[in-house]
Parts: sequence; structure tokens; C-alpha cells
Amino acid sequence: MAYNLLKGKRGIIFGALDEKSMAWQIALKCHEEGATFTLSNAPIALRMGKINELASACGNATVIGADATSLTDLENVFSQSMEVLGGKIDFVLHSIGMSPNVRKKVPYDETNYDNFLKTIDISALSFHKVMQTAMKLDALNEWASVVGLSYIAAQRAFPGYNDMSDAKALLESIARTFGYQYGFKKKVRVNTISQSPTLTTAGSGVEGFNAFFHYAEKMSPLGNANAEECANYCLSLFSDLTRKVTMQNLFHDGGFSFTGVSESVIRDFDVQ
Ligand SMILES: NC(=O)c1ccc[n+]([C@@H]2O[C@H](COP(=O)([O-])OP(=O)(O)OC[C@H]3O[C@@H](n4cnc5c(N)ncnc54)[C@H](O)[C@@H]3O)[C@@H](O)[C@H]2O)c1
Repeated sequence: MAYNLLKGKRGIIFGALDEKSMAWQIALKCHEEGATFTLSNAPIALRMGKINELASACGNATVIGADATSLTDLENVFSQSMEVLGGKIDFVLHSIGMSPNVRKKVPYDETNYDNFLKTIDISALSFHKVMQTAMKLDALNEWASVVGLSYIAAQRAFPGYNDMSDAKALLESIARTFGYQYGFKKKVRVNTISQSPTLTTAGSGVEGFNAFFHYAEKMSPLGNANAEECANYCLSLFSDLTRKVTMQNLFHDGGFSFTGVSESVIRDFDVQ
């Protein structure tokens, strides 16, 4: 059901790879709600993914290749987006994450530090780079909303999540710290959504994903939140209905984060 929540708003959506991607579902919903936006992803993802399919489903959205760790690429994304959309930007989605250590199954306590730095640069510093670039170009309208996607491994240990845990902790910290700066300077909101485990390319690359997906499902009073539900939550944060929400890490996880144990899990472990 569409409410025209984003009518007249211009956005940039980073990180749609295929239909399982969180950013893919978010883009479809933003389109449904009346927004116009550009889509950006790493050049290699543009070659391997299906972003053009998404672009045509979203009113022929312009696709702009950018490595989110490159300031030059990011400047190009913001300048081109303002040009094709016809003005400053009202919302930005950062849906970017990648860990070479996770990919190569390098254990956390035998980490490869070059990989670790890449994880931090791609999955966390890029969030800072996106906002610093936007600020430098004065590319965002007042009351614009910037959202990044996080995971509860920022607060609690999940062994398979490896160095992505540290990247998420930094991502959430950047939301707070940059949110302060952007709030005072331009009334821009910055938040992260801490999403349930979701079956996507990045998600399923994490060791033990299947097990903790089902564990989280059993632990959450409302069940895991899926990508479409994450998209709905995102819309509320891009809309004018949440103008005073900023610098927050917002759990969107069916209650998982505040549940100690569920009856269903107790039953599973009730061994005599
Ligand atoms: N899937 C989950 O369980 C889950 C849970 C909570 C949070 N998240 C977060 O959601 C976000 C999106 O992930 P997803 O699950 O939709 O998986 P995904 O694999 O579909 O998306 C990750 C995206 O990051 C992009 N990316 C990687 N390196 C990049 C670079 N250098 N420059 C630009 N883009 C780059 C990829 O091309 C891809 O589109 C990530 O931040 C992820 O950590 C995922």
C-alpha cells in the first residue's frame, strides 16, 4: 500500500546488488512512495549484479558506478545525482558492507590486517565519506535523512561475524558523531537501522548464518524482520514523519535485542 510518503523527494541509494539485497527492496518501496532517486554500486557489482533491472522497475533511475571508498567517485555520485534529479538530495541510503576476512574465512584471532582495514574502509568509513562529500558539496536539503544498515554484532559477540562486528560498531558511532555535526550545521538526520539476520548475498556469506537466522527467529517475539519490512521502516525514516529522530541506532529485529531467552529456546535446551 502506498501513502505518497516520499512524493517530491530526491534520493541516492547505495548497495543494491540483486533482488535479495536490502537496498533493492528499499528502492522499490521508495519508488512506490513517489520518490525519484539514483542507484549506485561498485563498478564490479554493476557488471555482476542486476541493477539495470531494478533501475527500469524504478522509473528508469540513473545508475552511477562508484567505489564507496573513493572520494572522487562519491563526489561524482552526488554531482551527477543533483544534475539528473534536478536539485539537492533529501535522503541517502548506505547499504554497503564487505569483509575480505569473512569472504576468505580468516579467523578473527588470526586476522589479516590488510583485509581488516579494507573491511573498515568499505563497511564503515565509507559512511563517513558519503556524508563528508555531501557536506562539502552542500548536496543535502535541510531535514534530509541519511540511513545506514547495521547489525547487533556491534553490541554483542557473534563469532562468525568476524571483523564486521567492529565495522558495525564504528558505523553506529559515525552515525552519532556525524549526526551531531550535520544536525547543527544543516538539520540533517543520521541514523542506523540494526536489522535482523536477512538472507542476502552479504548475509549468507557469514559463517553459521543459517543457524543464527533460525535462532534469532525463535528468540524474537515478533519473528525476524525481512528485507521488505526493513524497507518499510526505512521509508518512515526518509519521510517527514520522523524529522526529530537522529544519531540513533534503531533496532528493527522483532524484539530480539531485548529478549533474554524465549520459551521456545528454553524448551530446546530443557535436557534432564
Ligand atoms: N543480510 C543481513 O543479515 C544483514 C543484517 C543487518 C545488516 N545488514 C547490512 O545491510 C547492508 C546491505 O547488505 P545486504 O545484506 O543487502 O547484502 P548485499 O550483498 O546485497 O549488499 C551489500 C552491498 O555492498 C556493496 N559493496 C561492497 N563493496 C563496495 C564498495 N567498495 N563500494 C560500493 N559498494 C560496495 C555490494 O556491491 C552490495 O551491493 C550491509 O551494510 C549489511 O552489513 C545485513
